[in-house]
Amino acid sequence: MKILIFNQKGGVGKTTTAVNLGLGIARFAQQSVTLIDLDPQTHLTAALGLRAENLSWNVSDWLAAERTPQPEVVAENVQLIPGDWNPHSTRPHRATLAALTDWVIVDAPPIWNTEVATMMAQCDWVLTPMEPEFLSMQGISRLLQRMEAEAISWQRLRLLLCRYDDRLVVHREVRARLTERFGEQVFNGVIRNNIRLAEAPSYGQAIFDYAPNSAGADDYQALVMWVLAAKAHLVQ
Ligand SMILES: Nc1ncnc2c1ncn2[C@@H]1O[C@H](COP(=O)(O)OP(=O)(O)OP(=O)(O)O)[C@@H](O)[C@H]1O
Ligand SMILES: [Mg+2]
Repeated sequence: MKILIFNQKGGVGKTTTAVNLGLGIARFAQQSVTLIDLDPQTHLTAALGLRAENLSWNVSDWLAAERTPQPEVVAENVQLIPGDWNPHSTRPHRATLAALTDWVIVDAPPIWNTEVATMMAQCDWVLTPMEPEFLSMQGISRLLQRMEAEAISWQRLRLLLCRYDDRLVVHREVRARLTERFGEQVFNGVIRNNIRLAEAPSYGQAIFDYAPNSAGADDYQALVMWVLAAKAHLVQ
């Protein structure tokens, strides 16, 4: 199963989701996962304890399929194709996700570009983390238009509410509206606002190692279970 994590809005929880979903699948399902850092900010690479500047290859080399070095092993059953902090390449994209592991999770930048389009066309799901605000819903409409323009079915979209606070009326309302409109395409749980999730990357750890008893660990474990169940459905 191949999942592109994308939202054109910045700072909504894409990288946090890539790290904890990827490492969570490896941990709870013991299946192999490849994480791809498509964002020149290289936050995914950093959150896994590596510095893109110190590595001799990156996602641009992989996309051009000119060099196929072994991806970096970052945890048991988890490998990383590191980010390119200084992309300038105009090389054609030849790489395909099919040659990788069972699970591929791509952390996209908060912009639309040709790399994102290449990946979106190959992914089973476009998983979109979003903050529970009304303006975020406008962003989802634009994303759907973008998918339509790329001839990608809207049924591949999945929505994930992040930094959720049940005490806020607006959060509850946005959740209700999204569920009404998108039904089972919305994750049936939420990712609550949890400071442990913000702390974990500076230790290069997933939430399950950094704070296993936190709300963040509970929420991301529930997301992992939801995605595993969807995959079982997909292969039937
Ligand atoms: N559920 C949460 N609770 C608290 N803090 C969070 C949560 N999710 C993410 N954060 C924090 O919010 C910030 C933005 O999250 P993240 O980097 O995952 O977003 P992003 O969508 O990848 O951003 P960008 O668009 O810049 O790539 C980070 O500091 C992260 O640690
Ligand atoms: Mg990010």
